[in-house]
Amino acid sequence: MARRRQVEAAFVRTAEAFGFREVSTPTFESLELFTAKSGPGIVRELYAFKDQGGRDLALRPEFTASILRFFVSDLRSLPKPVKVYSTGNVFRYEEPQKGRYREFFQLNAEIIGGAALPSDAEAVALAIRTMRAIGLTQVRARIGHIGMLRSFLPFSPADQTLVLHALDKRNVPMLEAELARLGRMELAGPLQDVIRLAGDASVLEEAKEILGGAGGEAFVYLHALSEQLYHYGMPATDYAFDMGVVRGLDYYTGMVFEIDSPNLGAEKQVGGGGAYTLAEVFGGEPVPQTGFALGLDRLVMAAEAEGALAPAARLDAYVIPIGEAMRGKALEILASLRAAGLRADVDLVGRGPSKNLDYANAIGARHAVLVGEREAKGGAVAVRDMGSGNQEQVSLESLVARLRSS
Ligand code: HAM
Repeated sequence: MARRRQVEAAFVRTAEAFGFREVSTPTFESLELFTAKSGPGIVRELYAFKDQGGRDLALRPEFTASILRFFVSDLRSLPKPVKVYSTGNVFRYEEPQKGRYREFFQLNAEIIGGAALPSDAEAVALAIRTMRAIGLTQVRARIGHIGMLRSFLPFSPADQTLVLHALDKRNVPMLEAELARLGRMELAGPLQDVIRLAGDASVLEEAKEILGGAGGEAFVYLHALSEQLYHYGMPATDYAFDMGVVRGLDYYTGMVFEIDSPNLGAEKQVGGGGAYTLAEVFGGEPVPQTGFALGLDRLVMAAEAEGALAPAARLDAYVIPIGEAMRGKALEILASLRAAGLRADVDLVGRGPSKNLDYANAIGARHAVLVGEREAKGGAVAVRDMGSGNQEQVSLESLVARLRSS
């Protein structure tokens, strides 16, 4: 939990520094909130159930739908843009394996009602800055554009989605079957070529050539996005363009991105997001919406693999009364250390001093504070540095400063 809190705190700190504010939504919602637009991938994985009143409910599989419902019902009159973040557990009935769980924890951010391009840049910048704040160096964002792919597919949005699903899963037989059904088999080759394109801005030109004019606006948009990211101080090594970012959720309509850690094997995606259309589905105005979620469980694994996490904080002082008669004095000293903001604990067993020193050693305390009758009378205690084994007398007035200094 210490490592998880460290990673979560880096996200919260960064999101707050970017002007985001925290919101919280319920763990379960009406089933239809998630069946409306999230797509079959998510719907198949829902933990759905009926409550005692016969209502269809589901555990949240993500935050975005809940936050957009909340936006439409309660936040829509706030000055725009609305920038919100949430952290919490989400549930998906997936096949569990390393890095893939049925209950996992997301760090989520959304920007609603800003202009599309600056909001997308802000979202990508927050995601990448969060990686750096955690101390990760090997992660890289891959940025694509779902609108580009959609504009190449002359089908209804529902059929586009089926084709996109096959592309997302890199499932060639499924892709060919869908295109055959739609009578456009000739698109299979160019689609497979285009989703293989990844690299610097030159891949945008190559994609343009393959798609023969489709998605022109998307390419201009991605160029402009990378220009804004440059001004955010994001070097081009922080991200690559990747025309194969398709995303598993159906509500995306514009720029999309994913972030991978090379250290995680099969479940290497630590985050994903992009521009989407959901407010309209819940009865709201059509405003630009963009955001992302990071998978906390995977971030922690990536940070562990990179050795990016600080060791857990140690106890500053373990207070040992020498004899039960000194317990009252020991508790007073303990209270003063805790009030000064130090991490301090006290013997709760009534062990003798040497057993207590063993215990202080075992729990990794930095110091033992021995409260003996003779020293206490003189307004002092013995402080033992558990690392070096050195012990010295320290006056009660200088105890806090002494414990802080080493
Ligand atoms: P997502 O890609 O479905 O996007 O999930 C985001 C992240 O959650 C993934 O990149 C991954 O790190 C983590 N994750 C997903 N499934 C699991 C699992 N079974 N076990 C552990 N970690 C997992 C969304 O959820 C969108 N709502 C993101 C978004 C926000 N788009 C716009 N706004």
